[in-house]
Amino acid sequence: DSREPVAVAIDGPAGSGKSSVSKQAARRLGYGYLDTGAAYRALAWHVLSRGAETADADVVVAATEDFDYAISLDPDRYWVRVGETDVTDAIREPRVSAAVSGVARVPEVREAVNALFRSLVAAADAPGVIVEGRDITTVVLPDAPVRILLTAAPEVRAARRSAELSGEDAGAVAAALHQRDASDAKVVDFLNAAPGVTVVDSTELDFAQTVDAVLDVVRAGTGAH
Ligand code: DC
Repeated sequence: DSREPVAVAIDGPAGSGKSSVSKQAARRLGYGYLDTGAAYRALAWHVLSRGAETADADVVVAATEDFDYAISLDPDRYWVRVGETDVTDAIREPRVSAAVSGVARVPEVREAVNALFRSLVAAADAPGVIVEGRDITTVVLPDAPVRILLTAAPEVRAARRSAELSGEDAGAVAAALHQRDASDAKVVDFLNAAPGVTVVDSTELDFAQTVDAVLDVVRAGTGAH
């Protein structure tokens, strides 16, 4: 039909399981999945690939001018491209993670990508889209019929992240995660739920239980089954 896709907004900190949970919930619902952090990561990658400094806001804003960004909304075929380059894996590298907060703190960048996110949702070829990030419930899609904050205790998030990045030192992973949260939290508050946002705390839940908890909230909010 011609109705706009239903938007499901999910925010949360790094290591909350947000991406994998959102992707799996989207599969179960037959929805699209939009990873918004990928846009900030891809822009950081774009700046770094020119040998430029992500700490310089003017340089970052200038880099948005020729930022040819594309992302898949298919949870089974996830890819991210900048121009002709597939950056799906490159944007997860530690050098990009370390640089991305500098990019995400620039207001002009946030405005530009937020407009992009809204148009990607409106144009999605699916009955709904799960949109995952830090400020989706509050800034990007504050009127979404379903808004969720996915949280987990800091030590659980650090443990999950270091399991993902096997081979890296657990203490270093925890420190990097903590540092990124602290710098990201200065830009948007993703540690506290805004009014009307449902908290799903995954500290005591495994992956499947967390997906089910999210699906329960989506069904309650949309009548989907
Ligand atoms: O979710 P992630 O780790 O891929 O996000 C990458 C960075 O982008 C993270 O440092 C926070 C930032 N971000 C943001 O500021 N707003 C969003 N909606 C999504 C991500």
